Amino acid sequence: MASSYEKYNLTHKNYDRTRLAVGHADTVARLHAHRGHLADLPDLKIIDLGCGTGLQLAAMMAAGMGTSARGELCGLDSSETGLEETRKKLSCYKSKNQPRLINGDMRQVDGATGRFDLVFSSFAMHHLPRQAPGQLLDETRLVLGEAERLLARDGLLAIVTCTPEQMSADLGSMWYYRYFPRAAHLLAQRFIGISDWQQLLAECGFATVEISPVADVYYTAAGIDLTGPFTEEFQAGDSIFALAKSIPGELDEGLAALSTDIASGAAALYLNEVMQRNETHKQAILITASR
Ligand SMILES: C[S@@+](CC[C@H](N)C(=O)[O-])C[C@H]1O[C@@H](n2cnc3c(N)ncnc32)[C@H](O)[C@@H]1O
Repeated sequence: MASSYEKYNLTHKNYDRTRLAVGHADTVARLHAHRGHLADLPDLKIIDLGCGTGLQLAAMMAAGMGTSARGELCGLDSSETGLEETRKKLSCYKSKNQPRLINGDMRQVDGATGRFDLVFSSFAMHHLPRQAPGQLLDETRLVLGEAERLLARDGLLAIVTCTPEQMSADLGSMWYYRYFPRAAHLLAQRFIGISDWQQLLAECGFATVEISPVADVYYTAAGIDLTGPFTEEFQAGDSIFALAKSIPGELDEGLAALSTDIASGAAALYLNEVMQRNETHKQAILITASR
């Protein structure tokens, strides 16, 4: 089962132009706080659910995580193209063991129960199906159930995602969302609010839950290029464009408005405003949970 609305087998080739390993430093800090003296990063057994093109796994390998003979690094994704990109990216890092890449569904993972010290997932669960009311929560509950089953007794679950507010067209963290308001609205509805996360995690057996904004802000040079949204390469990095293409007129009208705003200077001013807002509101949240 792939993303319910984005053709990642096509878009993953260009996905990295606008994307980074958001929340990596915060995740490492939480791991240290959770594990104390046990936080020997190379020895950790780690799985990344919905690893995409391997941006987070690469950041983990660069930090030596899971790279000792006792450690393990595993990435799971439903996109074969994403896994191919991951394989290429990880090949330049040294490890005592080869990262294991699995083409599969994060709602039903083949893997030993109680094995992983860190079950990680970033920006993946909002791709789960959401055709009927409550379905997204039910599907997310399946993933959290799998995460709980895969996690070692003293392991940590870490999820990087956004709040619906961070995804909002006018007050959110993405500068170009105001040009695609209907798509931004659909996308924001796919992001679970904090109280729902707390309830879902409690239902799935997690007693200790910590949720806070990711401290750093993240931009690639391509991601803050005002002309980026006109190109397929830029569009490949954000599923708002897949949603915009499914709404008649949304993409063309948005690009026309952006074009006008670039010419008048309004787009540059707005980008600056969003970047300033992100310093306080932040772009993402990190959820960690343990039993
Ligand atoms: C926005 S990308 C995030 C990729 C990566 N985690 C990152 O932060 O760059 C979402 C990823 O979730 C994957 N995905 C969506 N639904 C999935 C499912 N049911 N099982 C496994 N992977 C899934 C997609 O193929 C895609 O790679």
